[in-house]
Amino acid sequence: SMEEGVAIITSAPTKTRSNDTEYPYRQNSDFYYLCGFNEDNSILVLIKTHEFTKTILFVEAHNEIHALWNGARLGVDGALKRFSVDEVHESAEYAGMIKELLREHINLYIDLYNASPRLIEAKTAAEALQSMRGVKRHIRSIRDVTHLIRTLRLIKSELEIAHIRKALTITAEAHHIAMQKCRVGMKEYQLQAAMSYVFLNSGAMSEAYGAIVAGGNNANTLHYVDNRDELREGDLVLIDAACEWELYASDITRTFPINGKFSEAQKEVYEKVLDVQLRVIDAIKPNVKRDWLQSYSEELLCDALIELGILVGERNALIEAKEHKKYAPHGIGHWMGLDVHDPCPYVDEAGESLAFEAGMVMTIEPGLYFRADDESVHERYRGIGIRIEDNILVTESGYENLSAMIAKRVEEIEAMCQL
Ligand code: GLY
Ligand code: MN
Ligand code: MN
Repeated sequence: SMEEGVAIITSAPTKTRSNDTEYPYRQNSDFYYLCGFNEDNSILVLIKTHEFTKTILFVEAHNEIHALWNGARLGVDGALKRFSVDEVHESAEYAGMIKELLREHINLYIDLYNASPRLIEAKTAAEALQSMRGVKRHIRSIRDVTHLIRTLRLIKSELEIAHIRKALTITAEAHHIAMQKCRVGMKEYQLQAAMSYVFLNSGAMSEAYGAIVAGGNNANTLHYVDNRDELREGDLVLIDAACEWELYASDITRTFPINGKFSEAQKEVYEKVLDVQLRVIDAIKPNVKRDWLQSYSEELLCDALIELGILVGERNALIEAKEHKKYAPHGIGHWMGLDVHDPCPYVDEAGESLAFEAGMVMTIEPGLYFRADDESVHERYRGIGIRIEDNILVTESGYENLSAMIAKRVEEIEAMCQL
């Protein structure tokens, strides 16, 4: 994807949680995508000329004190054996080597929005070279590398899809356990705990994002992560929770009745959201544009709101006036991969919406949200918030719902709740 030049991609920094304790380490997804190395303070350098390409990884040296307290690092020899890069050097050598490299190549590719000291160092050195006269070959332009990497990340390989499938196998079990264990009077965090147990017990060491376990009206707060309320008789619970496998995300939402049986009003709304979800998923195939899918989903959600008697009027006029947004405020879905919201492009170079291609993975997650205090909604629907989210792989012939094994139809959910 590069023209002639040098690309520098840095590992994620470690982050302090409080005083002298750290958050669990999470690698920079772009860095991990390119080389799979999972240690901090490492740097990947890619060189491309007309004659050759070369990959250099800079890693922290083995260090006895670090080994004692935090565990052994792979070190230069270990990294050279394990990873398919051309050269490995100690991170301490980076500053000296990079100055040489910048003198020889004409484009520098970095993450322009990343304030990593290693990148600032390279950028400053490149800018200094740019202002010098009489130097024959050196960096002439400083460009963004993330767009190139994230365009590659759009199309998942077989191995990446296998990791997502594995994450989903575990996430499926966790959602089913939550449906089985849920009882009136439990706390939201107790359902979260049951799911976390499944994640860890299966070797998925991290959630892909902070779990949302939202009983009743809490479901109407889209990013509710407090998870401390009681689960009450007659309410639904919306759970948006999923694990990561080998750094690949899954992202699943299910909404089910706390007492195991949908009320008539809950069922009416649930069936509408489910119908929208199934129809949107069914429209996915290569060459369909993502923007079109978004508009299509808004039409279907608006129709649902009209059928429920919540919106009154002609559909297109209602959409034009954004009336549906009050009850369906978020988008239909997002790319998913190494990041739960994979930062891959949504538009092409011309600014046109991207068309689906085999190997892309997108969530489809319609929702309808009726706040308990919203008097524009019939009383019977107030306090109901429903989202249903699956992870869809685009295939040559259409799509595959990678999370199809997770209970979703009313009868399937009620049966799962009885187990
Ligand atoms: N779990 C975050 C999302 O659904 O986008
Ligand atoms: Mn989600
Ligand atoms: Mn999502």
